[in-house]
Amino acid sequence: MEQKEFNENIAKAKKSIMYVTDRPEIIFEKGEGSYLWDTFNNRYLDMIQGWAVCCLGHCAPVMVQALEEQAKTLINPSPSYYNLPAIQLADELVNSSCMDKVFFINSGAEANEGAIKLARKYGAKYKNGAYEIITAVNGFHGRTLATMSASGKEKWKDIYSPKVDGFKWAEYNDIEAIKQNINENTCAIMLELVQGEAGVIVADKEYVAEIRKLCDENNILLIFDEVQTGMGRTGYMFAYEYYNIEPDIMTLAKGIGGGFPLSALLAKDAVCCFEAGDQGGTYSMTPLGCAVGLSVFKELKNKDICGNVQKMNEYFKGKLAMLMEKYAVMNEIRGLGLLLAIGLKEEIAVEITKECMDKFLLINAPNPKTLRFMPALNISEKEIDECIAILDSVFAKHL
Ligand SMILES: Cc1ncc(COP(=O)(O)O)c(C=O)c1O
Repeated sequence: MEQKEFNENIAKAKKSIMYVTDRPEIIFEKGEGSYLWDTFNNRYLDMIQGWAVCCLGHCAPVMVQALEEQAKTLINPSPSYYNLPAIQLADELVNSSCMDKVFFINSGAEANEGAIKLARKYGAKYKNGAYEIITAVNGFHGRTLATMSASGKEKWKDIYSPKVDGFKWAEYNDIEAIKQNINENTCAIMLELVQGEAGVIVADKEYVAEIRKLCDENNILLIFDEVQTGMGRTGYMFAYEYYNIEPDIMTLAKGIGGGFPLSALLAKDAVCCFEAGDQGGTYSMTPLGCAVGLSVFKELKNKDICGNVQKMNEYFKGKLAMLMEKYAVMNEIRGLGLLLAIGLKEEIAVEITKECMDKFLLINAPNPKTLRFMPALNISEKEIDECIAILDSVFAKHL
């Protein structure tokens, strides 16, 4: 693209796209696997992948094929009728997890909103109207009003008041904090197993096991928000498998659609208490979304993508450890599978991401002291080497 045309497009974007965040002056035009190309044909190594969404990389051929075929066949007959891709994907998900039923929708926030409603319905029906949900400090569950109220982000405390009532925040990885917040009104505990947006904080195994015990003892539902950790991201299809602890309700998004808008609320039979009309959505269980989801799911399983995640986790961590020996500003490597982060001693993460972008590497800074990596789950050693080489050259400037 010529510079003039580019400038005109940026001007149009600034004029007509509603401001919700700062965006760099880059327009992406094409994606393939681990790479994105901008309108000047610069190639970027993408370690963000649509925010941990494109689990098979950009424009995965199986997804493109599923989209093409399903788009020609049936796009949306209405959520009031069954369709084959939705039946098949639901069947795959319940057969591969500890869950019994699935409700499909489009985003992580909507799936979590459904989980909150289901837990409250359960509380109303089976626990004398219990409605409170305990969530974690710094947790992130989405951007609808209820999921923002559920999220334990300090910055969001006073935004869009009045908040949706009924959420209590407990320090993460602190079982006493959970105990202190339990009362007869508690219907559920809702957690991420790895807090992604908070900076890749991994839940302790003992903490998760203790929570399950508390839930069982007090007739409280356990909700795992696996929007970011699900679909192979941690090296397990679902992160709860790593913990060997089953939730009562689980939400999936991001990887389930491989970049296409799709999410799922899953629950055990004993919990499924919605009555007709309690939950729905015009774009629930569209054949188009579910056909894509099915293609992603089959690829994850057939190509043993979880195996690759576990291998690449070792490889990537090993390389990051070598960088950490070289650069004192790095003080921690944390995460599971291919949801990894570097902890920094100084608040230079945003600066580092900008410098990486100048060298055509896309990484994320969820906070000023953390760099986060959420690459395609089928990433190769060579691509990881490329990432490390760029990081090395950027960190060298911060010695
Ligand atoms: C754990 C978790 N839950 C929920 C969400 C919200 O998902 P969405 O942006 O698809 O609404 C996110 C998004 O980053 C997330 O990481």
